[in-house]
Amino acid sequence: MTDNGDEPDRHRQSRLFTDDEGEFDADRAREESLPVEDGEVIDTDDLADHQQYVEGRGIYDERNRVNDLTGKEWKYATKSVIPEGYPPAVQHDLRSDHGGQKPPRLCADLIGRFSKAGDTVLDPFAGVGGTLLGASFCEHEGTGLREAIGFEQNQRWIDIYESVLVRENDERRERGDPPLEAQDIRHGDCADLIDAVPDDSVDLLLTDVPYWHMDELEQTRNERATRESKLGSFDDDGNGSDENSESAGNTLEGTDDATLEDETDGQAHTQSKDEWLTDMASKFDLFVDAVDPAGHVVVFIGDMYREQSYEFLSADLARALEEHTSLSLAANLVWYDPTKDLHVYGYPFSFVPSMVHQNVLVFRIDAS
Ligand SMILES: C[S@@+](CC[C@H](N)C(=O)[O-])C[C@H]1O[C@@H](n2cnc3c(N)ncnc32)[C@H](O)[C@@H]1O
Repeated sequence: MTDNGDEPDRHRQSRLFTDDEGEFDADRAREESLPVEDGEVIDTDDLADHQQYVEGRGIYDERNRVNDLTGKEWKYATKSVIPEGYPPAVQHDLRSDHGGQKPPRLCADLIGRFSKAGDTVLDPFAGVGGTLLGASFCEHEGTGLREAIGFEQNQRWIDIYESVLVRENDERRERGDPPLEAQDIRHGDCADLIDAVPDDSVDLLLTDVPYWHMDELEQTRNERATRESKLGSFDDDGNGSDENSESAGNTLEGTDDATLEDETDGQAHTQSKDEWLTDMASKFDLFVDAVDPAGHVVVFIGDMYREQSYEFLSADLARALEEHTSLSLAANLVWYDPTKDLHVYGYPFSFVPSMVHQNVLVFRIDAS
C-alpha cells in the first residue's frame, strides 16, 4: 500500500491508460500487452507460483483438478441456472428424428465444467450423440479435445450420429473450419458394454437417461399420428420435445395408464416408476466403477407432470442413485430454455406447469 492507502503499480498503470473521459481504457492497455482483468491492469508479479494469467480469460490456478477454467470462467460455470436456448444446429434436422436429443453445445459446456483437456467422457445412453459431439467441439471451441465413448442399443441412432458427423464435417471443411473428431460409439446394451471399460478410466460420465413413462405417452397418442411423429420414432426410451427444439422438459398431461408393446419380444409390459428407478440405480451401480474417484457423474433428467400430479423425477432419481450406488449429489443445475414453445395446459381449471427446464444432476463418487 502507498501512503494514501492506494495499491501501488496496478492502479498507477491503470491511470496511464485513460480515454478522453479520463476512464481506464482496457483496449489501449491490452494493445501494450498488459494483462487486463475486470477493468484493471493485473500486476503479474502479484500472482502466486501456481497461478498464470491467460490472455482474454483471466487467472488460471494450476491446482485446478476439476476443469481447465480460469477463476473468472469458474464463477460463471458454477451458476446453478443455465438460461440458454440452443437454436437448432449441428444437423438438427437429422438428430431431431430421435426426439430426446440434447444440444451438443450445451453438452460441450458441461464437459468444459467437469473435465480437463485429454480426459475421457462416457455416455452410456448416447442416442444420436449430443455428448459425443460436445466432446469433439471442446477441441475447437473449448479448452481441448476430450475422448468420448458412447453406448447405444438402437443402431438407428448410431447411424444418425455417424451421418451427422459426415455432413457436419463436409460443411466445416467448406467453411474452412477444422473437422470434428469422430468419437467411439458402441452398439449394445450399456449393462454389458460397461464391462469392457477399465475401472477408473472415465473422468466424466455425462448422460441423459431413458425416461420412465414415455412409453405410455406413445401409447396414448393417436396411433397413426404417433407412427408419423417424432415421438413415434422414439422406441420406449426417449424423452419428448418440440419438433424444432432440443429437448428440455415434459408435460404429459392427460396420459392414462397404458401397457407398452415391447418391440423386442411383442409382450405387453408396463414399467412402474419404482421399476424404472431400480433399473437406473442398478445400471449406474455398474457404471460407477469405470469412473475415476475424482471424477463426476452428470445426468440430465426432466421432471414430469402426469395425471394431475407433479412427478419429481430428478429428486426420485437422485435419491435412488444415492441410496443404491456410491454416488453423492453435489448439485442440481437447472437448464432453462427460454425459447421453448409454451402450450395452454390446464386452462382455465387447473394449474399445469409448462416445463421449460430440465435438471442436470451432478454427482461425486463417495469415497467412504
Ligand atoms: C434420452 S436418450 C439420449 C439422447 C442423447 N442425449 C442425444 O443427444 O441424442 C436415451 C437413449 O438411451 C438409449 N438406451 C436405453 N436403454 C439402453 C441400454 N440399456 N443400453 C444402451 N442404450 C440404451 C435409448 O435408445 C436412447 O437413445
